[in-house]
Amino acid sequence: MKDGKSTKDISLMQVWPVRIPRPYKQKLSPSKALVTGQRILDTFFPVAQGGTACVPGPFGSGKTVIQHQLAKWANAEIVVYIGCGERGNEMTDVLLEFPKLIDPRSKEPLMKRTVLIANTSNMPVAAREASVYTGITIAEYFRDMGMGVALMADSTSRWAEAMREISGRLEEMPGEEGYPAYLGARISSFYERAGKVICLGSDKREGTLSVIGAVSPPGGDLSDPVVQATLRVVKVFWSLEDKLAAMRHFPAISWLNSYSLYADSLETFFTDTVDPSFVKNQKTAMRILQNEAELQEIVRLVGVDALSERDQLALEVSRSIREDFLHQNAFHDVDTYTTLKKQHILLKIILHFYERTKESLSQGISIETIKSMKVRNKIARAKYIPEQELSKIETIAAEIDAELASLSSKEIKTGA
Ligand SMILES: Nc1ncnc2c1ncn2[C@@H]1O[C@H](COP(=O)(O)OP(=O)(O)OP(=O)(O)O)[C@@H](O)[C@H]1O
Ligand SMILES: [Mg+2]
Repeated sequence: MKDGKSTKDISLMQVWPVRIPRPYKQKLSPSKALVTGQRILDTFFPVAQGGTACVPGPFGSGKTVIQHQLAKWANAEIVVYIGCGERGNEMTDVLLEFPKLIDPRSKEPLMKRTVLIANTSNMPVAAREASVYTGITIAEYFRDMGMGVALMADSTSRWAEAMREISGRLEEMPGEEGYPAYLGARISSFYERAGKVICLGSDKREGTLSVIGAVSPPGGDLSDPVVQATLRVVKVFWSLEDKLAAMRHFPAISWLNSYSLYADSLETFFTDTVDPSFVKNQKTAMRILQNEAELQEIVRLVGVDALSERDQLALEVSRSIREDFLHQNAFHDVDTYTTLKKQHILLKIILHFYERTKESLSQGISIETIKSMKVRNKIARAKYIPEQELSKIETIAAEIDAELASLSSKEIKTGA
């Protein structure tokens, strides 16, 4: 210090009623993606920093695994994880695992940026409400410092059930399915506390608070009042399906039912930070997946042989997008996190394969020959190639071209 006095640590305390949102100067519209490293989320259904998302799904479909993945890998400076009325061992997992994981940005243990609010299923129901509100207020406190904060709540259904029980005991007039009439209002006021804001103060610092809530409707029924009330406020919907979970396709997020209303506003972000063709490729891949649903309907009715070779190729490519791109193992060292750059390259390779094989089909190479190409194995294994060796994935494009060239010269010879 200037006057020679030594510095002294002081601790600060703020008191704030948790049900009241903390004030800010101005709300801005979100413009950057919350990068999660989960391919289906970042590429197809991105959530913005300062945005809201919900993950509804039946029991065992992977809600908790997704929330844990976001807590581990989302590019936020602070993560607030609320375990609301769920199993205690899941909180223990976080507590044991996070100190061992290193945050790639700060190079410090992940635990240092994480706030855990543990409210397990054996605690009194009134505490569930307290856990949700405490969590979001702590998150706002860090947002007010100008930080990027991400909040995960697993599961908001347990909070809603607590509201139902308390309202029943207060003998209030019940609404839909016995939930209180103010269920929707409470849920929206919770999610509305998310956002990108200019904080109070003269330095105009910007803070973001993203909120991602899991919802566990009984039987995975999306008409459940908690799901419906949540969908009315959030902008991103990641729909978990038990059919996909049963097939061990994880993350079991339906690519046909999910949506992100941030896709348009994040277009410039992806174009600038990843690649100008990122959004175009994503749209092409989505069209292929949607087309697959229609083609499968025909296959169910009349069999795969009734399809033209072009349609059979389309089916093969959509299978490749599902298995080689969307499928992501949260427990694999490399696969657990994929950078945007790698996501872009992986999808680009699959689409390159499609473009080139479409040409080969029209030059008379049979669909069977294409299906048995050796390079397909490489495409399938590409996601396990570490980030440091991205060039190895990029060379697969040249290998596709080379194998197709050798195939066409062979077919010409046999034809002659
Ligand atoms: N991305 C993933 N990669 C690998 N396995 C996964 C993935 N997602 C889910 N699983 C598997 O699914 C199982 C159930 O997931 P999880 O516990 O997250 O479900 P849940 O929806 O939270 O269930 P509940 O409603 O009971 O809380 C996990 O134990 C894991 O084996
Ligand atoms: Mg769970």
